[in-house]
Amino acid sequence: MNDTFLKACRGEAVPYTPVWIMRQAGRYLKQYQKIRKKVDFLTLCKTPELAAEVTIQPIDALGVDAAILFSDILIPVEAMGMNLQFSEKKGPVFTKPIRDMASIDKLIIPEPEETLNFVLETIKILCRELSNRVPLIGFSGAPFTLATYMIEGGTSKNFLQTKKMIFQTPDLYAALMDKITHTVTKYLRAQIRAGVQAVQLFDTWAGVLSPRDYRDFALPYVKRVIEALRSEQSTVNSQQSAPPPTPPPRGGRVREGVKTPIIYFVGECAGLLEDIKNCGADVIGIDWRINIDEAIKSLGSSISVQGNLDPCALFLPKEKIEDRVKDILNRTSSARGHIFNLGHGVLPETPVENVVAVVEMVHRLSKK
Ligand code: CP3
Repeated sequence: MNDTFLKACRGEAVPYTPVWIMRQAGRYLKQYQKIRKKVDFLTLCKTPELAAEVTIQPIDALGVDAAILFSDILIPVEAMGMNLQFSEKKGPVFTKPIRDMASIDKLIIPEPEETLNFVLETIKILCRELSNRVPLIGFSGAPFTLATYMIEGGTSKNFLQTKKMIFQTPDLYAALMDKITHTVTKYLRAQIRAGVQAVQLFDTWAGVLSPRDYRDFALPYVKRVIEALRSEQSTVNSQQSAPPPTPPPRGGRVREGVKTPIIYFVGECAGLLEDIKNCGADVIGIDWRINIDEAIKSLGSSISVQGNLDPCALFLPKEKIEDRVKDILNRTSSARGHIFNLGHGVLPETPVENVVAVVEMVHRLSKK
């Protein structure tokens, strides 16, 4: 198994800097488009054989050091009982956004083994099919980012509905976040039990909050998720000789004494790093709007970092891309651990050969 990614997450020595690409499975790949012509996006997410196939496509095409489960952050929100649609133009849409207590009361905290079993099945297929290649990353949206979609009903410019709920009806917001936090915790726990070897929490929209609001209305819920995952692991880890309550699946992760790395990605994180530092994650994902060495300085030496090439830099000529890759590698020399990535998802228009080139550059230029 190529474990450079897991080692960098833990801050252990690596022979070269590992790399994977956020949204590495997707429309910029012809192989993905071919499958998407036959099925819509939600069907793709819910068909384990197909979801596993598109998860593996970028491993073959790019030579990255980790696979990320193919799914979407809004899948567990649908399982909470909300009607989810993906429109070609508007992206994800919830037809009945959350605006009152009655709709929060109706939300379910799903049992992953029941309503989200297709995700766990996808993971099990991937554990078999990836076995000796690269680790598999599971993921969830972080509570605040999921709440924005549920409250706004889709993507938003200024997140006014979300902030109105926070400021005008904080009890409603707290009740909603409580349900989301439970959902996310159960969902990630189930993914870890099914076999993922690391998890990433996507807080794509947390950067729209002021630092004080981030500290009060987003960070505490992320911490709760991370603490709950850690406490489960210490239970597993302390049962050195006793058999675990449910046997881990073949190829599954739950190996005693090994904790699953947790990555926390925040979009527009620059003004929030002093707070993010205390979230409890092993790795912080950094977007491109800050030099990564400055982020490392704020985060300190007990955390690894991931990032942070601007996704649009993939439209530069190759020699200029290489300058930027070198620059990021130079700036991360003092990090506890570094996983190369983009600062956000790869764009559908991106030339595949440039993504392949970045992976090759990172491996070549960082070789010890
Ligand atoms: O990284 C991967 O390769 C794994 C798969 C993955 C997808 N979405 C597939 C996807 C992951 C990890 C996500 C996370 C996700 N989804 C986030 C957080 C990360 C980020 O990019 O900010 C968010 C905010 C979403 C919600 C979402 N899903 C939006 C806003 C959209 C529409 C925009 C777009 O890119 O089309 C999606 C759709 C989506 N999720 C697609 C894919 C491959 C495109 C669907 C298609 O094939 O038409």
